[in-house]
Amino acid sequence: MMQEKLLIAPSILSADFAQLGEDIKKIEVAGADWVHIDVMDGLFVPNLTFGAPVVKCIRKTTKMFFDCHLMVENPEKYIADFKAAGADQIVVHAEATKHLHRCIQQIKSEGMKAGVALCPATPLAAVEEILPYVDMVLIMSVNPGFGGQSFIESSLDKIARLRKMITDAGLDVDIQVDGGINDKTSKLVRDAGANILVAGSFVYGAKDIKAAIEALKA
Ligand code: DX5
Ligand code: ZN
Repeated sequence: MMQEKLLIAPSILSADFAQLGEDIKKIEVAGADWVHIDVMDGLFVPNLTFGAPVVKCIRKTTKMFFDCHLMVENPEKYIADFKAAGADQIVVHAEATKHLHRCIQQIKSEGMKAGVALCPATPLAAVEEILPYVDMVLIMSVNPGFGGQSFIESSLDKIARLRKMITDAGLDVDIQVDGGINDKTSKLVRDAGANILVAGSFVYGAKDIKAAIEALKA
């Protein structure tokens, strides 16, 4: 079911880390809504990126909404640091913390928006009890860790079932999808009920970034 609200969140994982500030300006002028910031610790996922100090530096370059996707073990340890660095939202993986409810409470009490993410093999039941407490659920449509992977088709049915769960519970929760999003898969995930689209390689790999963002919204 297509949602009215639609946000595009390019992932700076596919940007040039030597010129992050300029690369964020590029998506801002091209009409992106959020900056998606992929934080990896080499433990939860087999890759490393950056942490709060880098977020603090890029915070000086833009007023855009900073959507921080923490692919780290025990994310509760870093919430205060990311708040101090200027994060607007923190998304933690249900698989990465023993106390998801406490972790979400911690994010909210810091005055940020809170989201919970699920890897492709994690069932929706993992978010059933936390749904009333979060602003957003992130359905991973690739295994987290790397950009440029192909979209996992079964994510579509998962998104549709999650949209039904949210509607049936009478809640207002956004559904974000991350991994393998391009001009074709964007339509499929929106039809299934997602309303916040992350795209890394499709946006930053495009010759015309504005046209790429428009294609995701079309
Ligand atoms: C993967 C990250 C994604 C990644 C998406 O672990 O969470 O945000 O940047 O990249 P694409 O859009 O290239 O699949
Ligand atoms: Zn991400």
